[in-house]
Amino acid sequence: METEDAAATRALAAALAAAARSGDTISLVGELGAGKTQFAKGFGAGLGVTDTIVSPSFVLMAEYAGRLPLFHIDLYRLADAAEAMAGGLLDERQGAGVTIIEWAERFADAMPDGRLDVLIEGAGDDPRRIVLRSGTPDYDRYLAAVPDGPGR
Ligand SMILES: Nc1ncnc2c1ncn2[C@@H]1O[C@H](COP(=O)(O)OP(=O)(O)OP(=O)(O)O)[C@@H](O)[C@H]1O
Ligand SMILES: [Mg+2]
Repeated sequence: METEDAAATRALAAALAAAARSGDTISLVGELGAGKTQFAKGFGAGLGVTDTIVSPSFVLMAEYAGRLPLFHIDLYRLADAAEAMAGGLLDERQGAGVTIIEWAERFADAMPDGRLDVLIEGAGDDPRRIVLRSGTPDYDRYLAAVPDGPGR
C-alpha cells in the first residue's frame, strides 16, 4: 500500500484497528521519521482512544484507554531490548489489550510469532510504502481489514 501523507497513514491504521482483539501484538518497523508514531496515533483513534498519543521515547510503555487498552512501546532508546523483555516489559497485563511496538526489530527473537508486522518504507515528504505481514494465520484478519482504494 501507499500513503501520500501522515493523515493517510493514520486513516489506514484506524481502519486496521477494527480487526484488533485483546492480546494482539503489532510490530512497527521503519527508519527514523518513517511514520511509526503516526501509525500508532491512527491505530489508537480506531480503537477509540481519545487521549493524545505521543511518542513514548522517554518512557518504555504508555497505556491508553479505548475499546481495548492500547499499550504503546518505543524501543528506540532502549540499549538492550532483550533485557527489558526479561525484566517483564511484556507480561500478562498486555493480554487484555493491544500492544504496539516501535522499533520492534530490537526485540528480534523475543517478539512473539503471533503478531502483525507493519513495515513502513520512506521518510520525509515522500509517500510511504506500507507492507503488512501476519506472523500467524490468526493475524490475517488485519490483512482483510485493509480498505479498498487506489493505494492498496
Ligand atoms: N505518508 C506519511 N505517513 C506518515 N508520516 C508522514 C507521511 N508523510 C509525511 N509524514 C511525516 O513524517 C513524520 C513521521 O513521524 P513519526 O514520528 O510518526 O515517525 P517515527 O517512525 O515514529 O519516528 P521515530 O523513529 O523517531 O519514532 C511526521 O512528521 C509526518 O507528518
Ligand atoms: Mg516514533
